[in-house]
Amino acid sequence: MYRKGIILAGGKGTRLRPATYSVSKPLLPVYDKPMVYYSLSVLMQAGIREIAVITTPEDQALFQRVLRDGSQWGVQFEWIVQPSADGIAHAYILAEEFLNGHPSALVLGDNLFLGHGLQQRLIARSLPCSGGTIFTCEVSDPERYGVAGFTGNRVTQIVEKPTNPPSNSAITGLYFLDGDAPRRAHGLRPSERGELEIVSLLETYLAEGTLTVERLGAEIEWYDAGTHDALLEASQAVQRLQKGGELFGSPDEAAFRRGWSSGEAVAKAIQHLGKTAYASMLGTLVERAIRQPEAA
Ligand code: G1P
Repeated sequence: MYRKGIILAGGKGTRLRPATYSVSKPLLPVYDKPMVYYSLSVLMQAGIREIAVITTPEDQALFQRVLRDGSQWGVQFEWIVQPSADGIAHAYILAEEFLNGHPSALVLGDNLFLGHGLQQRLIARSLPCSGGTIFTCEVSDPERYGVAGFTGNRVTQIVEKPTNPPSNSAITGLYFLDGDAPRRAHGLRPSERGELEIVSLLETYLAEGTLTVERLGAEIEWYDAGTHDALLEASQAVQRLQKGGELFGSPDEAAFRRGWSSGEAVAKAIQHLGKTAYASMLGTLVERAIRQPEAA
């Protein structure tokens, strides 16, 4: 069974107030595009075309305005609401019908993965349909995140925001789980803060020895843009990387590279984007592809 995608874009963005009083966090800009573009691009790079977008009821229409129905990028969206912040693992219960037994890739709407070489690793990790895969990244402030503890190269422990982190490996907000995840999520109890925790769900796989880890190296810059400082740093990283003339976190680019959208569709997008650096970078990509198709 092929893997379906979930973008979890619910939540109130309380740590970004007052910026989030009227705009949902994943719709805030990271440099030149809405934050949710970056999460979507990750799923597209993994080859995923059926994607559930989970938002609060009041924000759904805004997300639909930004993402439309997905056909412009050759993907299909299913819209699901999360009425209250019940935790990341709760998303698997909300998406149970949509997943219908398929394995999934869930990405948080505020996570950015920037750099080269991610696509191959995502595709390789996407193939096995049983068990789970987490993606970790070395950070200097692991206590802010879920953290993986290792024995040799094997992950043996996962803890949410530990005061004494077992390592510097943060568990990023990208989770590849098999089709059993919704059933397992139903079996979880809410934590002290009243949420179904992702680490509790991952622990069920860890206990069975079916949780594997992909350790992202320095070639991938990872950001959880959940605070003002992180948001600014993420924007600066995109600005720096795009100075090389290439777009990062662009569904337009991801769709075109995968052959899910035609040159004409991109031309239409460019026209709509008008006089922006985004449009001119897209234009360069298409021109290059026409001149030397194998390099695109
Ligand atoms: C959530 C997860 C945490 C993970 C992080 C990644 O934390 O609970 O395990 O490391 O996302 O972005 P939050 O950012 O919601 O506090």
